[in-house]
Amino acid sequence: MAEKKKFQAIKGTRDLLPPETELWNRVEQTAREVFGTFGFGEIRPPIFEPTELFARAVGGETDIVSKEMYTFEDRPLEVDRPRVMGDFEPYLMTVKKLSESGSIPSTTENLEKIKNFETSWEVFTKSSWTDVHSLMEAEFYAGEISLGPDVSLRPEATASVCRAYIEHGMHALPQPVKLYYMGPMFRRERPQKGRYRQFYQIGAEVLETLQPGQGGAKDIPKDATVDAEVIEMLMTFFARLGLEGVQLEINSIGHAADNCRRGYVQKLKMALEEVKEQLGPDSQRRIETNPLRVLDSKLEREQAIIAGLPKIADHLCDDCKKQFAEVKRQLGLRGVKYQENWRLVRGLDYYMRTTFEITARGLGSQNAVCGGGRYDGLVELLGGPPTKGIGFAIGEDRLILSLQEAGKGGVAQGRDVFVAWMGEKAQATAIGAAQKLRAAGFRVELPPVEQKFGKALGQADKLGARYALILGDDEIATGQWTVKTLASGEQRKVAAQDMVKFLKGEIEE
Ligand code: HAM
Repeated sequence: MAEKKKFQAIKGTRDLLPPETELWNRVEQTAREVFGTFGFGEIRPPIFEPTELFARAVGGETDIVSKEMYTFEDRPLEVDRPRVMGDFEPYLMTVKKLSESGSIPSTTENLEKIKNFETSWEVFTKSSWTDVHSLMEAEFYAGEISLGPDVSLRPEATASVCRAYIEHGMHALPQPVKLYYMGPMFRRERPQKGRYRQFYQIGAEVLETLQPGQGGAKDIPKDATVDAEVIEMLMTFFARLGLEGVQLEINSIGHAADNCRRGYVQKLKMALEEVKEQLGPDSQRRIETNPLRVLDSKLEREQAIIAGLPKIADHLCDDCKKQFAEVKRQLGLRGVKYQENWRLVRGLDYYMRTTFEITARGLGSQNAVCGGGRYDGLVELLGGPPTKGIGFAIGEDRLILSLQEAGKGGVAQGRDVFVAWMGEKAQATAIGAAQKLRAAGFRVELPPVEQKFGKALGQADKLGARYALILGDDEIATGQWTVKTLASGEQRKVAAQDMVKFLKGEIEE
C-alpha cells in the first residue's frame, strides 16, 4: 500500500478560503468598477513568458530577475533528458534533428554542447564501452544541452502588458490605451507577513505611442496630467474600500541622460565611495551594481549616512524638473495629498521621472500596498514603436490584510434562505422553491436529505441563514408556506406564489 503522506501548500503559497474570498471578490469587483469609470479595460496576459522578456524589461541586475524568478526550460514534447545509457543514442539523434529545425536553441554555445556530447559518446562507444572518463563527459554534456527556451512565471505584469501591446499592434488603436489586470505573480522571496512567493496584484497601465509631431518638452503638461489622473484613480479606489492610513509618496528619478539621472548617479557613487567603510555589505555591493538602490536601505545604522548623500531633486534636468512640478500641481487640483520622498527609487529598472509608492496601516515592515511610475521607452526597448507608459500595481494580499486589520474584512458567508423540508412530496416543492429563489438572486441552502425541523433550524442557524422556509405536509396541502426569521424567531405564513416578492421586500428593508 502506498505510504500515507500529508501534502501541504508550498512555503510562501496559500489557499484563500471562504469567507475571506468574499472580501477578495469585493476588492476585485470594486477595482473593476472604479477603473472602468476611468476608461480602463481588462487584459489577461499569460502567467509565464520568456525569461528574456523580464530580464530586458525589469532588468537583469535587479533582485527580481537575478534571484527571485521561477524559471524552467520549456522543452519540446519529443525530447526528454536521458535516464539510462540506452537513451543516449536516440537522445543524440533527436537533439541533432531538433536543433536543425530550430525547435531547440541553435546558439553557438548550444551547438558546441551537442558536438561535445556527440564526440564523448563516440569515444565511449569506440572504446567498447570501457572508457569511463568519456562516459562521464557524455553524461555531463547530455545534461548541459539546452532543450528549450527559458520561461519564467511572471514576477510582475508590466512587461507582459507591453509585450501584448506590441504583439497586437495596439499602437494603431485610439491612444492612449488603458489596461488593467489582476492575478497571481511569483517571486522567490523569504516569506513573512505580507510577503509571499505567490502573491496577487491588481495593476493598471496607460500606454501611448508617439504620433508624428509628438514628443519632447511640449508633452510635459499632458504627461504630468496623465500621471496625476492614474494616481487619482488609485486613491479613489482605496477610498472606496475604506483603506486606512493611506500615505502616498512621490518622487522623480529623472531620465537616463548625462545632465540628469546618469550625472546624478555618478555623483552619488562618488559620495558613496567616500563613506563605503561605514556601510553594510549589501550597500557596499550596490555601490558597484546599482548605487540608487542604496537609498532604499532600511538598515538603522546607514540612515544618518544616507541622509547626507546628494539628492536627485538637485540634479534633475529642466524638463524633468518641470514635469515633476506639474505632477504635483495636478495632484493638488485633484485634492490628492502626497509626501515627497527623494529616496523612493523603486526596484525595477524601467522607471523614469514620476515614481510613487503607497503605504497603509496595519502591515508591519511590508507596508507598501502599491508601487508604480512612468516608464517611457519600455515598449521601444521590447521592440515596439516609441511609446510612453505609466502604471502601478497594488499588492492585493497586503491590501486585504490592511482592510482586515482595520476591521473592514468582516464578511460572513451566510445564506439568505435555508429550505427545511420533510417528506417526499415536500422535497419536490423544496427543489422548485430553491430554483425560484436562486433565480431571484438569493443565497439558498437546500439540504440533500430530509431532517427533523428542529435539527434543520439548528443547521440554518449555524450557517448564518436569515430565513428558514419550512415545508411540511401542511404547507404542501394549503400552499401557505411557513417562513421563520431566525434572528427574532418570528414565524408567519406566506402564499407560495408570493414568496419571492415577500423575501425581496424583507431583505431590502
Ligand atoms: P512592485 O513594487 O515590484 O512593482 O510591486 C507592486 C506591489 O506588489 C508592491 O507594492 C507590493 O504591495 C506587492 N508585492 C510585491 N512583492 C510581493 C510579495 N512577495 N508578496 C506580496 N506582495 C508583494 C511592480 O510590480 C510594477 N510592475 C508596478 C508597475 C506597474 N509599475 C508600472 N506599472
